[in-house]
Amino acid sequence: DVAGLIDSHGRTARDLRISVTEKCSLRCTYCMPEAGLPAIARNDLLTPTEIARLVGIAVRDLGVHDVRFTGGEPLMRADLVEIIGLSSAVAGGASISMTTNGIGLDKRVDELVGAGLTRLNISLDTVDRDHFARLTRRDRLPSVFAGIDAAKRAGIAPLKINAVLMRDTLGGAADLLEWALANGARLRFIEQMPLDADEAWARDNMVDAAELLDVLSAKFTLTQPHRDDPSDPAEEWLVEGHTYNGGPATVGIIASVTRSFCAACDRTRVTAEGTVRSCLFGDDETDLRALLRNGSTDATIAEWWRAAMWGKQEGHGMERSDFQRPVRSMGAIGG
Ligand code: GTP
Ligand code: 5AD
Ligand code: SF4
Repeated sequence: DVAGLIDSHGRTARDLRISVTEKCSLRCTYCMPEAGLPAIARNDLLTPTEIARLVGIAVRDLGVHDVRFTGGEPLMRADLVEIIGLSSAVAGGASISMTTNGIGLDKRVDELVGAGLTRLNISLDTVDRDHFARLTRRDRLPSVFAGIDAAKRAGIAPLKINAVLMRDTLGGAADLLEWALANGARLRFIEQMPLDADEAWARDNMVDAAELLDVLSAKFTLTQPHRDDPSDPAEEWLVEGHTYNGGPATVGIIASVTRSFCAACDRTRVTAEGTVRSCLFGDDETDLRALLRNGSTDATIAEWWRAAMWGKQEGHGMERSDFQRPVRSMGAIGG
């Protein structure tokens, strides 16, 4: 038994999320500034070997079960196949997954699966081309569809789709669900969190889970909300009269703001520059890259990682009047 990543609020982190780049092929307004994020110098990014070393330490010495690569957009890294290959070689039984916008996935999904990728979450907020272009500031919906088709052909199942709820796309939410049901994808809607680079988020204008349920209920009958696993951010609702892979069809709602799941949080994060971030909303970071590059042992790195997680804050704190959003935006942390 390993001494895991426990925190002072009684939680254990078993889900590692590693950001591999700040670059992205889209500019979603809830995440990135129009100009993109300031570039990270090449030497400041973790290398595939360094990433895989951290994955090995996490799985062997710290009890991590699931490893997810995020960005920015992971596909922007030319050496992504190497990152996944080296990581899966040391991941033991841990799953290796990725959250992506799907652009360019059609050309690379086969080699990624060959390197050890087992699961994929693809971000898609609307199936309306104009809405997509406005929200992402890029007219690239057809490339996303090509990526999704390729992932299905490569045998990725379940294929999850993440849709951040925005006022402009709420009217298309039922169409998106219709599309997901018809295309064998598991859709999850997400409440927008105050992590946009433009700092335009306002609680008053945010579309919440209750409003989404009203909109979807005009077209679908949703019943029996449940969570398969307490640390799963999504609450799943049955979509009556529809099936998925022969079983009941569901739609997930990730109500990070109005029904926070912080008390059951099992996440630990590493940024593209190699710092551990214990909470999405916690600006304190612990630099593991310096340790990776100064000859430190795996045991020393594991010790620093444990210390970083012990100090994890209790929750995002959005309900408090003195709430301060984090300095980094979503694209710079890794969703
Ligand atoms: P699965 O392993 O497939 O369940 O993935 P996941 O849901 O953990 O990962 P994904 O990257 O698809 O994240 C889904 C959404 O959950 C993201 O878009 C974020 O909005 C939100 N999210 C991810 N991590 C956190 C977190 O640590 N805290 C909070 N509050 N929200 C998060
Ligand atoms: N609030 C909620 N989710 C967000 N994502 C990006 N920015 C935000 C935000 N401000 C989502 C993306 C992707 C995942 C990595 O994070 O849509 O699915
Ligand atoms: Fe976990 Fe922090 Fe996200 Fe809450 S806000 S779920 S504590 S990472």
